[in-house]
Amino acid sequence: MHYKLALIGFGNVARALARLLIVKQALLKSAYDITFSFTGIATGGHGLAANPAGIDIQQALELVESGSDLSALSSMPLTDPLSVIRNSNASVMFENSPVNPQNGQPALDHIRAALSLGMHAITANKGPVVYGYRELIELAESKGRNFRFESAVLGGAPVFSVFRESFPLAELASFKGILNATTNIILSRMEGGESYEEALKYCQSIGVAERDPTNDVDGWDAAIKVAALATVLMDTPLTPQKVNPTGIRGITPEMIAKAKAEGKRYKLVCSAEKVGGQVTASVAPQLVDASSPLYGMMNSSTGVTFRTDVILDYSITLSERPGLQGGPVETAYGLFADFVNAVKA
Ligand code: HSE
Repeated sequence: MHYKLALIGFGNVARALARLLIVKQALLKSAYDITFSFTGIATGGHGLAANPAGIDIQQALELVESGSDLSALSSMPLTDPLSVIRNSNASVMFENSPVNPQNGQPALDHIRAALSLGMHAITANKGPVVYGYRELIELAESKGRNFRFESAVLGGAPVFSVFRESFPLAELASFKGILNATTNIILSRMEGGESYEEALKYCQSIGVAERDPTNDVDGWDAAIKVAALATVLMDTPLTPQKVNPTGIRGITPEMIAKAKAEGKRYKLVCSAEKVGGQVTASVAPQLVDASSPLYGMMNSSTGVTFRTDVILDYSITLSERPGLQGGPVETAYGLFADFVNAVKA
């Protein structure tokens, strides 16, 4: 079966996805008889393109990565990402616009539009999960399509699928982990002697920090991930504002050195607990020692430990390899897996 794909958002993750699809093209065909073409691309600052007959993805990658505009690849005039979705004639839409922790827009509208048009909608974006989970799942079901978001939390590690597929009817009581790679890399590199600014620059150079790193360093990316986990896995809507995160800007080199001398280190700890139907959640720097599973998660290693009513302390850890194939390939793999699982469902 042939699938036309629309990429809404064409940053590091979406471009890594395009490359991964190309790498796996022959395998997709031989294992599942899946073929694909790209028929819509919406970028943040390098133009819009739609062509139901197919867009040359190599050209699109080259244009955007050399700082050029890809509008010349379009077979029609377009006004905004929604017009790309409408005119792409796609069967699968990947939403990877920048995360908006305040209200999930415009990603929420992109996904509503795609599902309404009968496309599968797949995203690494936490915003629509937090602000539209129930609505989007119901819309997808009414259209016989999938709304999938495996890579929204912990990239390619199957956090949501584990509960969906492997832990039916287990109730999630609490979780604790490190969910933001940028701050974990910064704290690790500061422990190694680098300044905060140098470490942040490194995170931006490998494409791990968000376009606006404020959301990373002030804890909003972590808070929206906590909110997404609680909303989906604890069946309790939670917003990042309710999590009210504290970021890492207050952690000085002196504090890190003192902690190190005491055999401890600072981590941006993410946690939530459900008691009596109410969820309490937190994102804040905490001192951890070697007895904590979070102590050994350094640099871009992130992970979370879940406690359910039947299984105590089930841990998932993701060690990312930033820079591989020019982008966050683990997050791209989560999108790829969602694509395969959606269309073979
Ligand atoms: N900026 C995010 C992080 C990327 O640092 O974890 C993955 O969501």
